[in-house]
Amino acid sequence: MRNFTDLHFAKLLLNVELYIFIMILEVDNMSIDEVVSQMNIKEKAAICIGGSAWCTALIRRLGIPEIVMTDGPHGVRRVENVNETQNVASLTQSIPATCFPTASAVASSWDTQLIKEVGESIAEECIAQGVDIVLGPGNNMKRTPLCGRNFEYFSEDPYLGGYLSAAFINGVQSKGVGATLKHYIANNQEYKRLTMSSEVDERTLREIYLRAFEIAIKEGKPWAVMCSYNKLNGTYCSENHELLTEILRDEWEYDGFVMSDWGAIHDRVESLKAGVDLEMPGPQKHSFKQLMLAIRNEELDEEILDRAVKRILKVIFMAREVEKGNEDFDIDLHHNLARRVAGDSMVLLKNERNILPIKDHEYIAIIGNSAKNPRIQGGGSSQVTSTKLDTPYEEIKKLAKGSTFLYEDGYSMDGEANNELIDRAMDIARLADIVLLFIALPPYKEFESYDRSDINLLENQIELIKSVAAVQPNIVVVLNNGAPISMGEWINDVPGVIQTWLMGQGGGKAIADILFGNVNPSGKLAETFPAKLSDIPSYINYPGENNKVIYGEGIFIGYRYYDKKDIEVQFPFGYGLSYTNFEYSNLSVSSDEFRDVDGLNVSIDITNTGEVLGKEVVQLYVGDKECSLIRPVKELKGFEKIELEPNETKTVNFELDMRDFAYYDPKYKEWVTEDGEIEIMIGKSSKEICANRKINLISTIESPCNLDYNSTVREWLEDKKGKEIIESLSKKIMNNRDFKNLSEGSEVDVWKAAQDTQLIFLLRQLSWSLPLVPDMIMSRLLTQVHGKKK
Ligand code: BGC
Repeated sequence: MRNFTDLHFAKLLLNVELYIFIMILEVDNMSIDEVVSQMNIKEKAAICIGGSAWCTALIRRLGIPEIVMTDGPHGVRRVENVNETQNVASLTQSIPATCFPTASAVASSWDTQLIKEVGESIAEECIAQGVDIVLGPGNNMKRTPLCGRNFEYFSEDPYLGGYLSAAFINGVQSKGVGATLKHYIANNQEYKRLTMSSEVDERTLREIYLRAFEIAIKEGKPWAVMCSYNKLNGTYCSENHELLTEILRDEWEYDGFVMSDWGAIHDRVESLKAGVDLEMPGPQKHSFKQLMLAIRNEELDEEILDRAVKRILKVIFMAREVEKGNEDFDIDLHHNLARRVAGDSMVLLKNERNILPIKDHEYIAIIGNSAKNPRIQGGGSSQVTSTKLDTPYEEIKKLAKGSTFLYEDGYSMDGEANNELIDRAMDIARLADIVLLFIALPPYKEFESYDRSDINLLENQIELIKSVAAVQPNIVVVLNNGAPISMGEWINDVPGVIQTWLMGQGGGKAIADILFGNVNPSGKLAETFPAKLSDIPSYINYPGENNKVIYGEGIFIGYRYYDKKDIEVQFPFGYGLSYTNFEYSNLSVSSDEFRDVDGLNVSIDITNTGEVLGKEVVQLYVGDKECSLIRPVKELKGFEKIELEPNETKTVNFELDMRDFAYYDPKYKEWVTEDGEIEIMIGKSSKEICANRKINLISTIESPCNLDYNSTVREWLEDKKGKEIIESLSKKIMNNRDFKNLSEGSEVDVWKAAQDTQLIFLLRQLSWSLPLVPDMIMSRLLTQVHGKKK
């Protein structure tokens, strides 16, 4: 290896580009430690702050190349000039790329293989466009359907969100492009996202919000994690050491780098100490100065800076292993994938009288602006300039060549009431054999940086649906939106409803194929559609006040809440119809009694009993029936999408491990299980359980015993060993002759009535029936329970 001064001459003779090229080769041959040892403080500080809006800093002297990052998540949004400083105009000026359906759509496919393919295709486009890291997936939980960015997120369930994120990450990274898991953490609303503190208790954080990230990190190993804008329990996520270092690194052993969300850094020194390696976007003179000063004043240990530099360099070197910017990607192939994904993600919500698929109809009325101008994505940083666009209207016409088509706009997107539009729509509805009513939420309702204020369709859309339904019974409402809407006002008036989400550039063909039965719908909801806004778990605690939003519903997010409270929803989590039927049979478990550490195998047979090929999402839920902490009725712990020919049967196997039965106990700061009954439930949705089995779990967890002189009877009874001791003591007392005589005829259960008094107090009350003085008994009991004197 040549040393750096040898290259001085070359620097003078060759042009800068070539010089950098040579230096890059040089750097490529060094270990990260060697590179860091060559860097001065300024260079180290510079690499921890972006060089531009989309790149890391280029360190010319050492030939450390910049890498390029772009949004994400449902397509590549690479601007022409990646070295620009942040520029709002570039939101809509990116180089064309495939616009896949957004996350709320692909999540409804429940198909990890398919999502992996999307990841691979996005990576191929990154490679073609010279992009090293894509800024996705977004794995924030859907705490409220109002969050303006829900279309970018997968689910209300951490298990589903976690595994779908991992599938996407694995797809992207299999091609040598990095993925970024975002936004870490509790960024579940857009309202005041830069200043709000999400107030979340420890158990909720662990079981819901962190769990989604934990799964994605362990199963996907993303190159990057992006920390969110908001605060968590009063501390900015970008300055939260517990989150970024203790949990992410020490516990989960994450070894990629952490970048900030764009503009999430408030104090570069604090954020570096907490664990944010890279500040984005750059350049940030102020942060640079802060770092330099802190090193000079010895407020920042250089080792902390080095650690961040090493993590960033590691990813830069990984990115360099795949050459980028030299090949084109296959536009048609990716467009076809976008169609396939859209088709597998759409959810058939209602299909009375088997109105779908469309039979041979002479006159088909297509009403609604979105048939010609579909919404393919939401607004904000995820906006992609699509390479192509299928419109439902054109695609439907191609598939029903023998039919006559009538078209009307039906409504305007500004929400203005317009009787003329409605009258014209009713006129064609009367003439038609069937009406396809395309209803889209206007783009301004689903946009990054602010939330919706309601979950309704526009007034003029509701009026249109009701008016058309009054003159034509054969209606299919085709919904085009990225998050749940309420349907109570009109759903009983129409026989057919299909949710097409923000369908991506191939959605037009996908919906046409579904309407005519070329594709059998197989999407299932990855989030609950509530009956009304006031039913949602976070209703009372949203959007928060005084810059704090309290996650008062705790672990009861989404279906966990509706199940527990027995609240009727419009459509439950996991729900979706098909043109065929599936039967569930032969549920079997590896054992009726099992130790948590051994796990459990579950299998079930699924048969397609209908007449057409179809796909089913088989869902496994676990319910813990005996637990000292409050638990949801059921929680998703397994899912698989399978395809079946008519009359075909397949066996689906699930392997459950200890974590699938455990809950997080803040008292012990641990995941724990308890002895007792567990219910395994397998079904078509969280509401439609087709098979279940109750089994017995034996916990191997030895929780530390906290009993002492002042513990209450209840506390003794809650402790496994304590319970045995108290039960035997109680038996002895009850059998005491004096006690029997005295309590004869009394209805009072002394032990029950005394549950919340201190055991020592109770012993004193009963001292006349005891063989020893209470203090002596207490001391023996404590020795027994702790195995030593306490
Ligand atoms: C968003 C991120 C995005 C970044 C870059 C931020 O405002 O929250 O999700 O990746 O901008 O566009």
